[in-house]
Amino acid sequence: MIRNKGCGETSTTDIGRNVTLCGWVFRRRDHGGLIFVDLRDRSGILQVVFSPEASPDAHRQAHTLRSEYVIAVSGTIRKRPPGTENPAMSTGDVELYAVTLDVLNESSTLPFMIEDAAETSESLRLKHRYLDLRRPDLQNNLLIRHKVTKIVRDYLDENGFIEIETPMLTKSTPEGARDYLVPSRLNPGHFYALPQSPQIFKQILMVAGLEKYFQIVKCFRDEDLRADRQPEFTQIDLEMSFADREDIIALVEGMLQRTFRSTLNVELPIPFQRLGFNECMERFGTDKPDLRFGLELKDMGDLAMEGKFKVFRDAIESGGRVKALNGKGLAHLSRKDVDALTDEAIAYGAKGLAWIKVKDGFESPIAKFFPENALREMASRLGAEEGDLMLFVADKENIVHDVLGRLRLDLGKRLNLIERGFRFAWVVDFPLLEWNDEESRFEAMHHPFTSPVDDDVEKLLSDNVNDGDILRNLRAKAYDLVLNGYEIGGGSIRIHRRDVQRRMFAVLGVTDEDAKAKFGFLLDALDYGAPPHGGIALGLDRLVMIMVGASSIRDVIAFPKTQKATCLMSGTPSPVDPKQLKELSIRVDLPEL
Ligand code: AMO
Ligand code: AMP
Repeated sequence: MIRNKGCGETSTTDIGRNVTLCGWVFRRRDHGGLIFVDLRDRSGILQVVFSPEASPDAHRQAHTLRSEYVIAVSGTIRKRPPGTENPAMSTGDVELYAVTLDVLNESSTLPFMIEDAAETSESLRLKHRYLDLRRPDLQNNLLIRHKVTKIVRDYLDENGFIEIETPMLTKSTPEGARDYLVPSRLNPGHFYALPQSPQIFKQILMVAGLEKYFQIVKCFRDEDLRADRQPEFTQIDLEMSFADREDIIALVEGMLQRTFRSTLNVELPIPFQRLGFNECMERFGTDKPDLRFGLELKDMGDLAMEGKFKVFRDAIESGGRVKALNGKGLAHLSRKDVDALTDEAIAYGAKGLAWIKVKDGFESPIAKFFPENALREMASRLGAEEGDLMLFVADKENIVHDVLGRLRLDLGKRLNLIERGFRFAWVVDFPLLEWNDEESRFEAMHHPFTSPVDDDVEKLLSDNVNDGDILRNLRAKAYDLVLNGYEIGGGSIRIHRRDVQRRMFAVLGVTDEDAKAKFGFLLDALDYGAPPHGGIALGLDRLVMIMVGASSIRDVIAFPKTQKATCLMSGTPSPVDPKQLKELSIRVDLPEL
């Protein structure tokens, strides 16, 4: 052992002890003959003092130290002289009075200082990720992540779940993204897909009688990236036989309660709030609402029809909606500011943003189109008082919800309405199917293996199933878990009957042939005594991101990818040797630029 103590572990109880510490030179300061080094290791930072009296050699050598040199120092822990304590440091009452110094390794001049990393461009930090990861913040994120997975593993183990690995080289799983493909050398022209999730395999494990499966597992999705999305990410994935929705929900609530208690010392109240999908969309315009503030959307359809504003009437008459939210205290906004809000709404897909200020009556270019009592009812519905700004969007329902849902989030931030803490909610009672306008067909709202509710199974199996109204109204045994405005998990009770699964594929427009080619092995398995089963997957990266208060999922992943799905440190992806391509029978045909 070179060292016998961690920098961050030293305290007043160590005063007088001789110790050896190892770590990186975080800062060095020369002060009237004394040299101070803040020494950093994973456990924290401790001040080391080199004085010519204690050791002329070590003191002389300390002059050569530069940022991020790796050193071993021995000496005595002593109390800092009165007046020099640093309450901002957890070790601020003590220091190491150095006697010997060994330089274990030197460091070149750094592309950025570790302590300035937060202000350094992310691309430079990602290129030198090993330096970025020296930041205590990022190390703490990885530590919390480790603790979360450990607690989850222990909890699921105690509840009878066993961790089973499923293949990475596999067939496409339909989770709605593009696949990452891997060519097969031994089977030219054939490809594996990296799993978008272990969905089909975990269901087959239920057919196989394993009863309770879990896996902390990498998933791969080639989709547009955002701050909360990575092309490879990790799920806490689980599946359970003979279970209904309530079993899964209770299991996950218990798991999260223990996780938050043990890592953050936060006591989550359970059961979590539940919101029906329709109610959720009506109130928040999204199926992943941030419940840390109000500012709910209100329907104005009936009042729109009491007025003569054509935009509103047209929207309602063509089957659309008019809804509004209350910009609390924003009646003072200038015309320019309101125009900026309008531009924002237009950028989100609206055709415009109508507004009414509650200011000595009602001030708005559209107020003249409405009778006074309608205006008053609008304000009362929104809880709008003197000084507020009512904002309206009229359009197709999905646009109204999307635009107002996003404006709500922006306003919540702008008005500082967002409370601290963790607001979980289950979103339940989802429709089974969703109409895809562009492709003129129904899609699975979750995935095609999600079961309809019991009452709707017969409807799905009935002969007139292709009636759009029947399909639109089928309800699913699906549930999403939402935290502070992020979807952190999703799951469902699955279809375990082959006839139902077949019919599901049929209404999704998957031909028998296609279903057989893609999922034949699951359909076959369902023939041989498949138990009723269900499960869920939580996004581990998103969960940890919210737990530690990071603004990007990249801050809780050791080696994340950029928005363009590249790794700036390793230079991935990269061209490969033509020999390798030949072995794989692959020819690259790049479009001319
Ligand atoms: P789903 O597709 O909802 O469900 O995924 C589960 C959870 O994984 C997280 N997640 C992501 N996190 C980071 N980057 C991504 N690109 C990404 N995509 C998804 C989300 C999401 O809620 N097989 C089903 C689960 C089931 O039915 O049991 C599934 O994969 O937090
Ligand atoms: P216009 O009649 O187009 O001059 O619009 C009058 C006001 O209504 C402007 O403030 C527009 O931003 C707003 N507006 C236009 N279309 C919509 C819409 N679909 N929903 C809400 N407001 C709209």
